[in-house]
Amino acid sequence: MTSERSEADTVAYSVENGIAWVKFNRPEKRNCMSPQLNRQMMRVLDELEYDDSVGVLVLTGEGTAWSAGMDLKEYFRENEAKGLGAVRQAQSEAYGWWRRLRWYQKPTIAMVNGWCFGGGYGPLHACDLAFAADDAQFGLSEINWGILPGGGATKVATNLMPMRKAMYHAMMGENIDGTTAAEWGLINEAHPADALRERVTEVANVLLEKNPVALKATKDAVRRVMEMTYDNAEDYLIRAQEAANSFDNDGRKEGIKQFIDDKTYKPGLGSYDRTQQG
Ligand code: COA
Repeated sequence: MTSERSEADTVAYSVENGIAWVKFNRPEKRNCMSPQLNRQMMRVLDELEYDDSVGVLVLTGEGTAWSAGMDLKEYFRENEAKGLGAVRQAQSEAYGWWRRLRWYQKPTIAMVNGWCFGGGYGPLHACDLAFAADDAQFGLSEINWGILPGGGATKVATNLMPMRKAMYHAMMGENIDGTTAAEWGLINEAHPADALRERVTEVANVLLEKNPVALKATKDAVRRVMEMTYDNAEDYLIRAQEAANSFDNDGRKEGIKQFIDDKTYKPGLGSYDRTQQG
């Protein structure tokens, strides 16, 4: 038995003023990730990635949850009953869209409106930036039902938090609120729930003003260099900038011109005007 909501309806989205608002849409199941939702999310990401009307993607949740992690019934129990093939298939569908999101063409923001558990840490980490309601709840609840935080969740915790915090978080099965999640490094900022969307919109609007080729190169570079030696990173960054130049050399030249020749802006204080680019 699977849930009654149709596969297409497990994810909702709208595009407004350059921002794609994508929602986990199983509020009656606290937006836990079923195989259906995972397949639909990949379709939605596919559809929006090269859509010119989208400059920033925000991932949020309908109802009281961001995502209550993997669906214990439809993702775990039902697939385990079918055998290893079904388990691996479900894993690749879930991990597949998280990987796709980690390296997404557009900047991505997690807007965590409520519960965020276990498997939810995969897409949380996949988003470039993360903002939460100060009363949102974050937990590695796996230990509470007898498994380790898999599906990348342990890796996410150690990537984002200092070792003692990650260890406590993974072993104790206690939740932390949005304010603590910001202090521990899981997210960028926490805000009162009724101010969250406004702050995320403000951040998205700043990103919309930046050069999109430079943004993609930058977000990839931050993730890549974390695993490199200094010398490898130095070399990678040279190559990455030269590759970016082949897609958008004019933007970079325009940025220099508006500062050095036109004196119309200062890069230390804001972005150049992309609408002036010939
Ligand atoms: N897997 C499967 N079903 C889930 C689920 C999950 N991860 N999270 C919530 N649900 C289902 C519940 O079984 C319930 O279904 P029902 O209405 O058919 O009984 C429905 O969603 C509502 O959940 P409920 O527990 O009644 O909501 P709540 O608001 O009281 O509590 C949570 C919310 C998130 C605290 C609670 O649902 C929970 O602990 N979920 C599991 C979280 C978890 O450990 N996730 C890690 C998975 S890796």
